[in-house]
Amino acid sequence: MASATFKVQHNTALSNSHISLNVAQTQALRSQLKTQRGILYSSDIKALCTELNVSEDILLQGLVPMASEFSVAPISKFHVGAIVKGLDSQGNTTFYFGANAEFDHQALSLVVHGEQSAINNAWLNGSKKILKIAISDVPCGYCRQFMNELADAKELDILLPAQNFKLAELLPHSFGPTDLGNEHSLFNPAEQTNCFENKQLDEKLMSYALAAYVPYSQNYSAVKISTFENGDFYGSYAENAAYSPSLSPLQSAVSQLFLAGLSFDKQTVKSVTLLETAGHENQSGVAKAVLASFTGLPTLEVISATLAK
Ligand code: THU
Ligand code: ZN
Repeated sequence: MASATFKVQHNTALSNSHISLNVAQTQALRSQLKTQRGILYSSDIKALCTELNVSEDILLQGLVPMASEFSVAPISKFHVGAIVKGLDSQGNTTFYFGANAEFDHQALSLVVHGEQSAINNAWLNGSKKILKIAISDVPCGYCRQFMNELADAKELDILLPAQNFKLAELLPHSFGPTDLGNEHSLFNPAEQTNCFENKQLDEKLMSYALAAYVPYSQNYSAVKISTFENGDFYGSYAENAAYSPSLSPLQSAVSQLFLAGLSFDKQTVKSVTLLETAGHENQSGVAKAVLASFTGLPTLEVISATLAK
């Protein structure tokens, strides 16, 4: 079994048709992205736009190759990068990076696509709205469907290397949440009035589970990956009306770990915990399958907790 490795080009400069960074600038940005776990804040964006004398959208597209450096693709070696331009809770423009993540010797359907990774990054980290997504390649049908779960999905701007589109142009006659009678969406969820009965559980893990978008299964669930030296990484379950492009809480958490430039291996990971909603559990099987593709990781700790109003 292969362990996850990154496509990191340590001594190269980032230069493409949009922007050009020298080696020192490229390295500084790479390490800033790792420290900030795949996020560039509005002050970072403003500083870079001034330094490079480019607009926000040129910067957004210009940084996509750097997002693809966070790809972990041991099967395809095809490195997809995506960056969401979103608004944080204060309405500030923020860039949320994403990259595909593959799991060796597991069903190909478990892969996290670059677009999912970037949207998940925005969603987990408090973004209130997605404005645009810049991608290194044309999004597949599965990603178009995943994006169709967003609030204002039809209007979403998709910036591709050669051309820009609205999601509605790439996904006409779409199937979405309203076809199942769901008036909510990934960035506009139903108000959460539940809590878990057992108050002794990890508070952050509980809040990530309660923040899960689970209109179809009601399994409020989240995963916590604790590392030895780099803190904790959380992921929440994000469902999709077409079911298959749903993002499991473990995929969500692993993708966050990869965006910090870390490996999912026994040197890095201390423990992995899944919290699920009693009576609605559906995640431990897939989580164990994903874990099984890495050698020597700790066994999954599974907690089933009862929801209380
Ligand atoms: N991939 C994406 O990340 N996004 C797409 O929309 C196209 C495909 C990834 C999935 C897999 O890791 C690799 O590219 C080959 O399909
Ligand atoms: Zn895709």
